[in-house]
Amino acid sequence: MATIIAIDGPSGAGKGTISRALAAKLGFKYLDSGALYRLVGLAAKRHSVDLANHIDVSALAAHMDIDFRTTKDGSLSVFLESEDVTQELRTEETGALASQVASHKPVRAALLARQRLFATAEGLVADGRDMGTVVFPQAQLKIYLTASIEERAQRRYKELLAKGENVNLPALEEQVRSRDERDMSRDASPLIPAEDAIELDTSELSIQEVMDTVLNLVYIKGLAN
Ligand code: DC
Repeated sequence: MATIIAIDGPSGAGKGTISRALAAKLGFKYLDSGALYRLVGLAAKRHSVDLANHIDVSALAAHMDIDFRTTKDGSLSVFLESEDVTQELRTEETGALASQVASHKPVRAALLARQRLFATAEGLVADGRDMGTVVFPQAQLKIYLTASIEERAQRRYKELLAKGENVNLPALEEQVRSRDERDMSRDASPLIPAEDAIELDTSELSIQEVMDTVLNLVYIKGLAN
């Protein structure tokens, strides 16, 4: 059985940073499941599909032409219909579209099979909201990363400032709050920790401290040497 490490939690808790570093360290593949929801949101916008139209949006989720490519410097580029959309995928606007399409059950069902294809013999670090609860319930290690809303908004603020974007901290806090609300209260696979997940609050921890804690768990479970 393929080794799977599921890393779930709300946006801004550090899942992406930790999951990517962990996959690189262990030589595992990396699944950015949020990128799949973001791609559905983006594809719907580009094809002028009404987000409330579950049938058409789920057809896009099942059939959209996407590709994840690792570039020479080790970073990940994402393509939609052969166009590099890596930057556009990370915007707050695309995140909000993703959060909306993610509440549709048929969209989640359409993405389920696509996500499971990432689990191969080389091992997988799966990053998302329902990796440990729905997509990979058999994962050998499940981690639920959290951080306070203020800390998550602050991290996003610094990230956007570094990119030269004009941002407003209270507005970001509000966005984080409303995305949490939508992700946690939806009927379809709401964001909740799996029963067997280990919860880790990263509010007061550095990236290195989180990485050390997670790696320690990987070794304790015997998932790597
Ligand atoms: O992790 P992210 O910010 O890229 O995710 C974007 C949105 O996609 C998020 O608001 C909720 C949704 N999502 C989800 O419902 N299930 C996942 N496994 C990953 C993301």
